[in-house]
Amino acid sequence: MKATAIAPSNIAFIKYWGKTDETLRLPANGSISMNLSNLTTTTTVAFSPEYPQDSLLIDNRNDANEEKRVIAHLDRIREKKGISYKAKVVSMNNFPASTGLSSSASGFAALTVAAAQAAGLKLSEKELSILARRASGSACRSIPSGFVEWKKGDTSETSYATSLYPSDYWDIVDIVVVVSSEKKEISTTKGQTSSTSSPFFPIRLSHMEEKIKKIKIYLATKDFRAFGELIESEALEMHAVMMTSTPPLLYWLPNTVRMMKLVYTWRTEGIPVYFTLNTGQNVHLICQKKDISLLTKKLEEVQEIKQVIINTPAQEARIIDTHLF
Ligand code: PMV
Repeated sequence: MKATAIAPSNIAFIKYWGKTDETLRLPANGSISMNLSNLTTTTTVAFSPEYPQDSLLIDNRNDANEEKRVIAHLDRIREKKGISYKAKVVSMNNFPASTGLSSSASGFAALTVAAAQAAGLKLSEKELSILARRASGSACRSIPSGFVEWKKGDTSETSYATSLYPSDYWDIVDIVVVVSSEKKEISTTKGQTSSTSSPFFPIRLSHMEEKIKKIKIYLATKDFRAFGELIESEALEMHAVMMTSTPPLLYWLPNTVRMMKLVYTWRTEGIPVYFTLNTGQNVHLICQKKDISLLTKKLEEVQEIKQVIINTPAQEARIIDTHLF
């Protein structure tokens, strides 16, 4: 009863911030994302009557913070299958975790797919997406392929993600700029609970459906400029809500702002590039494939950058044959 899965992280163009149900992780609004080819988690899960307790290794370390959340997710899967065997879980990220690169999306998508298979559950993509959502909202979007929509839904059964377009639909690129690998102080899960305390949260919610309609049009017409302008203002709006929540959440570092300003400068020089950010200090630059080498050169000149990770739109979370133990 062992299986291994690889799952991509994803970047949300229209973000999920705030929930209507904490336990079920039902989002306050729908969201739209793209899977990322070069930010992945690989996870092996084995269930066995010989394990006295659940064990978890992430990037070769015991992680007490994540353990509770992982065990709760294993319990969901055990309950679905009607087994009580304990599990061994080994997980490897190919990027720095908990720095705003959505390691919980790739991590919990990989865990869901591997653990369901190891337990002998035969689940559809929809069922896997619903299950992944219970562990981490954004993880439900790493289950389907390419460009993805997570419909808000108002019950657990209606809140899941589906693919809008396959990964080869549009050759846009997400250049992840790591300005610091420091772990964020406030987790996304905790941060989300204070979203409704911002006076701007109701304003945000009132136009989310409109934003989703617009981004779908820009995706359908591949209108990169309109798309870029919308995703950038969407990221700033989410951060405005974060900053005006109680307690306030300020995830940016000085070099985060420097990168955002450089994006503005590069646009005035004629390079179509836009930024988006999640909970963390690192910046996602969204550009078209034709501009990668130009931007990579520009980035090489910025000394403060720790790492650059180039991502193309990626496939879905899936089972692979090579196990981690
Ligand atoms: O799924 P969580 O709890 O890690 O929340 C993700 C929140 C954002 O990354 C900030 C936005 C998003 O839609 O991915």
